[in-house]
Amino acid sequence: MKILAATNNAHKLEELKTILRPHGVEVISAKEAGGVPEVVEDRDTFEGNAVKKALETAKAKNMIVFSDDSGLSVDALDGRPGVYSARYAGENATDTDRMNKLLGELKGKTSRKAKFVCVIALASPDGLIGTATGECHGSIGFEAKGNQGFGYDPLFIPDGYKETFAELGEDIKNSMSHRGNALKKALADGHFKF
Ligand code: IMP
Repeated sequence: MKILAATNNAHKLEELKTILRPHGVEVISAKEAGGVPEVVEDRDTFEGNAVKKALETAKAKNMIVFSDDSGLSVDALDGRPGVYSARYAGENATDTDRMNKLLGELKGKTSRKAKFVCVIALASPDGLIGTATGECHGSIGFEAKGNQGFGYDPLFIPDGYKETFAELGEDIKNSMSHRGNALKKALADGHFKF
């Protein structure tokens, strides 16, 4: 089965493809499909943005589409950067800029607890098929470590480990990540059976 993933993030796409391949789901990227409209992520929840992206893209391309909206929620920052994770340090900032901003905001804070959150939404041109949420709990390190993964991975230490996601690598990350957990739920709920 082929479905279109409404994301332009190459790293996310690779993770989604790797996790879904063993389940017989072939993921086509927005780039491969071509003509996929840019959807404005203007909702204030992960679910709101994920549902909007999946529905608008499914209608525009007349295909079954799934989307992923995700981010990092830090306890000592009242859940920030949250839905604004991608734009946390401004529009043209880099992953390094965002990690430096986070390290700066956490200076002097006693708690470094955080979680990654991912909401997957699936839609057909006729409407929403379903959503699934996954979380991964951990803490924020004191410096960036490791060179695998993307985004905040060099700062995120999942519970039960001493290394960051960027040090642990894709197999371990995918087995416990927010994205992996959301996809497991969506598969278990039958959302990928059409
Ligand atoms: P969006 O879902 O495209 O709005 O962006 C989510 C942002 O959250 C990404 O650009 C990353 O900064 C961050 N993020 C989401 N998932 C991960 C992950 O698995 N590792 C590291 N950062 C992530």
